[in-house]
Amino acid sequence: MAPRKLAAGNWKMNGDLAALAEIDALVTAHPAPGCEVVICPPAMLLHPMKARAGAVIALGGQDCHANRSGAHTGDIAAGQLKDAGATYVILGHSERRADHGETDAMVAAKAAAAHAAGLTAIICVGETESQRDGDETLTVIASQLDGSIPEGATAANTVIAYEPVWAIGTGRTPTTDQIAEVHALMRERLAGKVQDAAQVRLLYGGSVKPGNAAEIFAVPDVDGALVGGASLKAIDFGPIIAALAAA
Ligand code: 13P
Repeated sequence: MAPRKLAAGNWKMNGDLAALAEIDALVTAHPAPGCEVVICPPAMLLHPMKARAGAVIALGGQDCHANRSGAHTGDIAAGQLKDAGATYVILGHSERRADHGETDAMVAAKAAAAHAAGLTAIICVGETESQRDGDETLTVIASQLDGSIPEGATAANTVIAYEPVWAIGTGRTPTTDQIAEVHALMRERLAGKVQDAAQVRLLYGGSVKPGNAAEIFAVPDVDGALVGGASLKAIDFGPIIAALAAA
């Protein structure tokens, strides 16, 4: 059986209370049967968004601390995300790796904390443009996967997102062959680490738009998308969800 499809929206540092209207529009447009939808807004929107999203749209955080609680000013524990209505959390996004120096080991520790709190971790990996140009993509992805996935990862508590750094927010995307090559490697690599590797959902992320979604979702081993800019408006995210449901 193929993994359940997942359309994930990463709002990054965008959105406010007024943007909750987008969730109302998505709830009306969705559900697309057989396709799960999750929105990961800034943390302060989780609780009010939960009231609008109900059971139709799942919610996620964009990061969590590796500890359960304590003196970590500005950080959020996985249990707190869960308490606010999240069931997912994005971890190791390239923006966190670049802006906050997050290493694979830190991502793995955060993912273990997410699992302990009952959250599904969306673990991000991806090569930079110079790594792609240097023919290092597959080595980089394999090593990020090896280092960022904690013990105890399963298809139920872990999703992997392949996000080439150079494709994020740029309007550029890899070719479908390039996406297929990386996703095949990820599936194979997971087999050594996760018991039910065939069921782990593998998302592609980086400039996914209504106009290219269908082509990307037709690639083997692409089980959904992690969408940034085009997830902010229901008018863009709705057609991406529909394309995934139809794939
Ligand atoms: P864009 O869809 O805006 O390129 O962002 C992708 C991303 O980083 C999602 O996490």
